Amino acid sequence: MVVAAPVTQEKRLTTQTLEIADNTTALRSLDWDRDRFDIEFGLQNGTTYNSYLIRGEKVALVDTSHEKFRQLYLDALTGAIDPSTIDYIVVSHTEPDHSGLIPDVLKLAPQAIVVASKVAIQFLEDLVHQPFERQIVKNSDKLDLGNGHVLEFVMAPNLHWPDTLFTYDAKTGILYTCDAFGMHYCSEDSFDTNLQAIEPDYRFYYECLMAPNARSVLSAMKRMDELPPVTTIATGHGPLLRHHLQTLTQNYRDWSQSKAKAETTVAVFYVSDYGYSDRLSQAIARGITKTEVAVEMMDLKVADPQEVNELVGRAQGLVICTPPTAGAAATLTKAALGTLVAAVKDKQVVGLFEAYGGDDEPIDTLVNRFRDLGLALGFEPIRIKQTPTDQVYQLCEEAGTDLGQLLNRDRKIKAQKSLNSDLEKALGRLSGGLYIITAQKGDVAGAMLASWVVQASLEPLGFSIAVAKDRAIESLMQVGDRFVLNVLEEGKHLGLMKHFLKRFAPGADRFAGINTQTARNGAPILTDALAYLECQVTSRMECSDHWVVYSQVTAGRVSNPEGITAVHHRKVGTYY
Ligand code: FEO
Repeated sequence: MVVAAPVTQEKRLTTQTLEIADNTTALRSLDWDRDRFDIEFGLQNGTTYNSYLIRGEKVALVDTSHEKFRQLYLDALTGAIDPSTIDYIVVSHTEPDHSGLIPDVLKLAPQAIVVASKVAIQFLEDLVHQPFERQIVKNSDKLDLGNGHVLEFVMAPNLHWPDTLFTYDAKTGILYTCDAFGMHYCSEDSFDTNLQAIEPDYRFYYECLMAPNARSVLSAMKRMDELPPVTTIATGHGPLLRHHLQTLTQNYRDWSQSKAKAETTVAVFYVSDYGYSDRLSQAIARGITKTEVAVEMMDLKVADPQEVNELVGRAQGLVICTPPTAGAAATLTKAALGTLVAAVKDKQVVGLFEAYGGDDEPIDTLVNRFRDLGLALGFEPIRIKQTPTDQVYQLCEEAGTDLGQLLNRDRKIKAQKSLNSDLEKALGRLSGGLYIITAQKGDVAGAMLASWVVQASLEPLGFSIAVAKDRAIESLMQVGDRFVLNVLEEGKHLGLMKHFLKRFAPGADRFAGINTQTARNGAPILTDALAYLECQVTSRMECSDHWVVYSQVTAGRVSNPEGITAVHHRKVGTYY
């Protein structure tokens, strides 16, 4: 059954109700046009918020929906069941896109018992301003709904919230995982029927939300392995995984194993649900993981001092959100912060950012404290004085990348020196042209000097570019993104080459002082280039430390018919 919102609504919101197994109903809220900047929404394919009803002799509702779906969701819910018969509301975690309507559901079902982790119940007390029945569950606890629907709970902290709980139904073999294994992909197809269509979104979502928690992903999957066979993963976002379950879960395992084995670790300390700490910390973490440094995230609100101590002890880098100085959040974070400061060691690299939560501790106080303790700054302190914009999130991501690159610097130099010199020289005889990639996505722009560019197809016209994983512009070259390839002209290329070879500070405007005009696809064209091609990314292939990005050309023009392309000749093949 599909119900549409009134056509007067600006954005297209619909709901979908379907039976997915015995006495099991999915209530999907389809948000077709979600475009608000959150790093993981980069592919702009909308999203869905999925909620589930399990009917044994007793009835459980797993998660709800985003508050923007209030009426549509409550209509779908009451269309599927009489809310007064709901016995349990299982809360996978307390982010508002899944738990935002819990107060509304509790008004219709005041008898329902809220089932969640201890931490989630604490958070819910702030969200639900009314008394409610509760049942705290731990890993391996069971809840028998009758008729074979025995629910088993699996704690999956940090996927991607400190209080995340998976739920397994023994009758149907469905595992409810909320954010984990999800993707921001909105379509009428409720399942993973078209693997090719969903793969880029599945990967991008993993990179943004799960890669910074790769070690936690592996721990959760170890617990999943102890369950009886899983037939379906019922996600909180996007299609349910059933047809390609093995492939898609194996992807998580492979990607996480690769991230987790990194020699260097950065601990990112944030304060959940305080200002913009969550999103800002995610953007920084995403920037760090681009450098193949492992990230471990920890919420200062619920961190155990012993865990803080251990994590600081094994991390080479620390990223810390300015904690609140007043209110309940300050009480919750104080002990963890004290432990953190006591545990730091000199030679560690630190990055600090404000949360804009209203009660932030002055960032300079913290900066001075860590400097006095002998720590080096991995990036300039990030000061947030208003609601973060797209550019602020970009700055955070780039700051994270800078910190990761700093930690990797010595290892990379050593690796370059240890290579066979004949091989290096032979490889250096491969040459390429000189190009500047320019891109614009919303308010965020980027540019990069490129040389590993080669035509790859005739029909349609297409070419590939190898982009190092830790390049800032990589985030603007996801499947579907548009950009311009500017071809530099021999004899006139040095000025542009020098400009774009510079090391830019995080968030810096790459185009200051450069003549540009805007292409039809929205990306900047460098007026002083020999030629330009307007392109759209079609696919990406992972090649160790680079992404090979295949793009199709939609338009192009040469400014000087007599000009020839500048060529980059190298001495060795181990760097550009
Ligand atoms: Fe989809 Fe963590 O909320």
